[in-house]
Amino acid sequence: MPSVLITGANSGLGLEFTRQLLRLGWSVHACCRKPERADDLRALRGGTPESLNIHAVDLADFVSIDNLATKLASAPIDLLINNAGVMDTTPIDFSEDNRRKVQVFGALNHSSWSEVFLINVIGTTRLTEVVLPNLQAGSQRKIVMISSIMGSIEACSPNRFPPGGGLYLYRSSKAALNMISRNLAADLASCGFTVLSVNPGWVKTAMGGRDAMLDPETSVGNMIKVISSATSSDNGSFISHDGARLPW
Ligand SMILES: NC(=O)c1ccc[n+]([C@@H]2O[C@H](COP(=O)([O-])OP(=O)(O)OC[C@H]3O[C@@H](n4cnc5c(N)ncnc54)[C@H](OP(=O)(O)O)[C@@H]3O)[C@@H](O)[C@H]2O)c1
Repeated sequence: MPSVLITGANSGLGLEFTRQLLRLGWSVHACCRKPERADDLRALRGGTPESLNIHAVDLADFVSIDNLATKLASAPIDLLINNAGVMDTTPIDFSEDNRRKVQVFGALNHSSWSEVFLINVIGTTRLTEVVLPNLQAGSQRKIVMISSIMGSIEACSPNRFPPGGGLYLYRSSKAALNMISRNLAADLASCGFTVLSVNPGWVKTAMGGRDAMLDPETSVGNMIKVISSATSSDNGSFISHDGARLPW
């Protein structure tokens, strides 16, 4: 039975990854901040409770990340999906009329920016360091960063869709996460790892909102196909959920 570790598994894309991979026969280590409140995740235990292990991990708390190593012990893990992420740590109105006014230059919240980096980049990288021995013990050696087209430097232009501008906190954190992907791809290539940055598309979740174009089932179904078919020749790629290569 292949095994996967997924962060942010209590909601949105992480919950859907957990649901679909369990259905496909994977053993899942599902990480979330508060397992006792993760009702939707716990409900997935269903008929195969031994396939779903739930761990408390807060990416802003390094002690909780380091505790994961103790809980995993020497369990082999084939695939790591670094899915958890935030757009901001203060509430934002991301409705259609307000979209161009979010995280604007001249009114940036610098303490939220630090927290976004701590979660999306530093905590995610720390967790990857902690899980690396388990991945080395696995047979697939795949690491996936759930990134965003918002993290593409080349695609950030007033002449492209979605147009560049705004979202400084989120865009810069996903661009940094993309660099971590490429750097890890370089560092781990000789050990047979495949490291990918994957863009889920614009998806109806708490982050994506109701106006988003894709439902989580479609986005995650597509991403699982991309991840499953990836080989070491794709190491260091930035790929969209539909398989299209994206510019860094
Ligand atoms: N939806 C989209 O359109 C879209 C587009 C491009 C990229 N993405 C990316 O897709 C990923 C999943 O997002 P989503 O759309 O599924 O949004 P979501 O429903 O808001 O899920 C975000 C997940 O991240 C977790 N998280 C937040 N802060 C955390 C922390 N400090 N430690 C551990 N986990 C934390 C959340 O847990 P809590 O419930 O405890 O807060 C939640 O499980 C993110 O990386 C996001 O940037 C989404």
